[in-house]
Amino acid sequence: MCAQSATHITYEDLLKGNKEFVANALATDPEYFDTLAKGQNPPVLWIGCADSRVPANQITNTKPGEIFVHRNIANMVIHTDMNMLSVLDYAVNVLKVKHVIVTGHYGCGGVIAAMSNNEFGLIDNWLRHIKDVYRLHADELDRIDDAKDRESRLVELNVVENVYNLCKTSIVQNAWAKGQELGVHGWVYSIETGIIRDMKVSTHNSENMEDVFRFK
Ligand code: CO
Repeated sequence: MCAQSATHITYEDLLKGNKEFVANALATDPEYFDTLAKGQNPPVLWIGCADSRVPANQITNTKPGEIFVHRNIANMVIHTDMNMLSVLDYAVNVLKVKHVIVTGHYGCGGVIAAMSNNEFGLIDNWLRHIKDVYRLHADELDRIDDAKDRESRLVELNVVENVYNLCKTSIVQNAWAKGQELGVHGWVYSIETGIIRDMKVSTHNSENMEDVFRFK
C-alpha cells in the first residue's frame, strides 16, 4: 500500500540475485539447502503487513526455516479469511508453533487509507475491518489532534484488536483447551528506526477473553 520509495530493481535482477544468494549460502555452508530440504520446524507464525519494507526474516535477523509467514494488507486477522485460517491451522496443529505474532507497522498505507473517507475500490471491503477498529476506539482516537499521531495510534490498536481476533479463533482456543503451549503477541515495527515495539498484549490462555467468545 505504500509506494513512495521506488527502486530500480528489474525482473532480470531478481534472477541474478538468486544466483548470488545460492552461491553465498553454499560458500557459508555446503549443506545449506540439503538441510533445509529435509523439512521445516519454525517456532513462530508471523502475521504481518504485505508492505515491502517489513520483511519478517530480515527485521528479526532470522533465516529461512525459522519463521512461518502470512502477510496481507494491514496485518489483519479476519474470521472468514480462509487463507489466514488455513495458515493458522497448519502452523498451530501441524507445525506446532509456540508463538503467533501479529506485526503491524507505523505509516501503514492500509491503516491510513481506512482512516480517510475516500473510496479506493475493491479494497474498501478489506479496509472496512480497520474502520471497525476505529469505531471501537473512536473516543480515544478522536481526542488525538495530530493526524500522524492518530494514524500511529490506530496502527497500534489495529494490532491489539487483531491479537484478540486471533485468540477468538477456534484454532487458538482449541489449542489452549488441549493444553498446547501457544503464545499470541502483538508488535509494531517502525520503518523509520527499524525498531520493533512490543504492545505487551501477549496471551497464553483464554482467561481474559470475554465470556461470549469462549467455548466451554
Ligand atoms: Co502496511
